[in-house]
Amino acid sequence: MGLLVKGGEIVTADSRYFADIYAEGEVITAIGTNLEVPAGTTVVDATGKLVFPGFIDPHVHIHLPFMATFAKDTHETASVAALLGGTTTFIEMVCPNRNDDALEGYQLWKAKAEGHSACDFAFHMAVTKFDDKTAGQLRQIVADGTASFKIFLSYKNFFGVDDGEMFQTLKLAKELGVITTAHCENAELVGQLQAQLIAAGKTGPEWHEPSRPEAVEAEGTGRFATFLETTGATGYVVHLSCAPALAAALAAKSRGVPIFIESVLPHFVFDKTMAERPGVEGMKYIMSPPLRDKKNQKPLWDALNQGIIDTVGTDHCPFDLKQKELGIGDFTKIPNGIPAIQDRVNVMYTYGVQAGRLDLHRFVEALSTKSAKLFGLFPKKGTIAVGSDADLVVFDPDYRGTISAKTHAVNNDYSGFEGTAIEGRPSVVTVRGQVQVANGAFVGQKNRGQFLRRQPQYL
Ligand code: URP
Ligand code: ZN
Ligand code: ZN
Repeated sequence: MGLLVKGGEIVTADSRYFADIYAEGEVITAIGTNLEVPAGTTVVDATGKLVFPGFIDPHVHIHLPFMATFAKDTHETASVAALLGGTTTFIEMVCPNRNDDALEGYQLWKAKAEGHSACDFAFHMAVTKFDDKTAGQLRQIVADGTASFKIFLSYKNFFGVDDGEMFQTLKLAKELGVITTAHCENAELVGQLQAQLIAAGKTGPEWHEPSRPEAVEAEGTGRFATFLETTGATGYVVHLSCAPALAAALAAKSRGVPIFIESVLPHFVFDKTMAERPGVEGMKYIMSPPLRDKKNQKPLWDALNQGIIDTVGTDHCPFDLKQKELGIGDFTKIPNGIPAIQDRVNVMYTYGVQAGRLDLHRFVEALSTKSAKLFGLFPKKGTIAVGSDADLVVFDPDYRGTISAKTHAVNNDYSGFEGTAIEGRPSVVTVRGQVQVANGAFVGQKNRGQFLRRQPQYL
């Protein structure tokens, strides 16, 4: 049966116009006015609404064994939350630790997702060690359609790789034509600073940021760029949080290093004073790289608006209050992560587009189209065009509401965005032609989501 989205204003990364969209099955088959459609077509009235391509979150954690516990969501809870927030595809980090077998890890993550997701999904494969088996296993994983890697320069002895392993990973990535995403913080400096602070009795969440200062992230970003330059591989800095790291990435870009930049929702709207709140209130806001001094926000918004920051993800990673309390008396044990998968589109629209900081087309590009292009999903995903998947977000710009853990679909007992006002939200969301969200509520099929196999991009 077909789907007709009628009367809305289509907004893509580079166009804005009134037209109707018809999908015969899973893909868009016509865009125009006065379209003739068969009887029985599902009609969505989009009058007064903006119609965006389905949003893509390029950085989420769902299944995640980390810091002596597990992130809280299942694929079912996270994908429903994603859809309610307008995200129709997410890319999850497959994160086995150094002691795990990479291929077994990959298969485990896939099994957790397949048949359990309401939206479409893909993976970045984390390379958390590089031994005799690694190259062969990574070739198999890329051949299976997971055509991007992830490395951590931080989290020593767990997810982190050393410089030799980074070099081997990037050499292979170059050969295979895949992009490598990287968490850029100097692991040695973080470890030394953490030990120094704890020894001085500085144990509360307010010491998390001083243990990973801006310079530590700038060093990691610069070093990653140097390794890209040396190997010829293409890289993507994840969750870039501050002006010095931005400067390091830009210096590399300006000398021709193929490096792309992602920043994530918390760093645009939260700052380090939130993690300085006493006790568990501060722990709610612990992530890495940490929330920064507020003065970093304007450079991030400006760089995003200018297209210097390429994409906006969430780094969605929920831990509940009891889990956060694992870090009472030792901030290094607070599970790192903030839930955000449901909030990215609404918060970036409200505090970016509505606040005059972010051009509407850049909003679409950074939250959807650019990730599709970088990660091999375009033009199936990331735009509204004949032949593209009918992943559509009918967005109500007149909606007014507030975010609350009482109403969110994320499996977590707090929201860092509690009480945040939003101006606009998705009212209808479709995944490959099927209505999954209507009137802002999930009405769809919980196993609708498909694994998206991607080809190397040789960017
Ligand atoms: O604090 C964070 N970001 N938690 C998730 C793991 C990571 O570093 O992305
Ligand atoms: Zn990270
Ligand atoms: Zn992450």
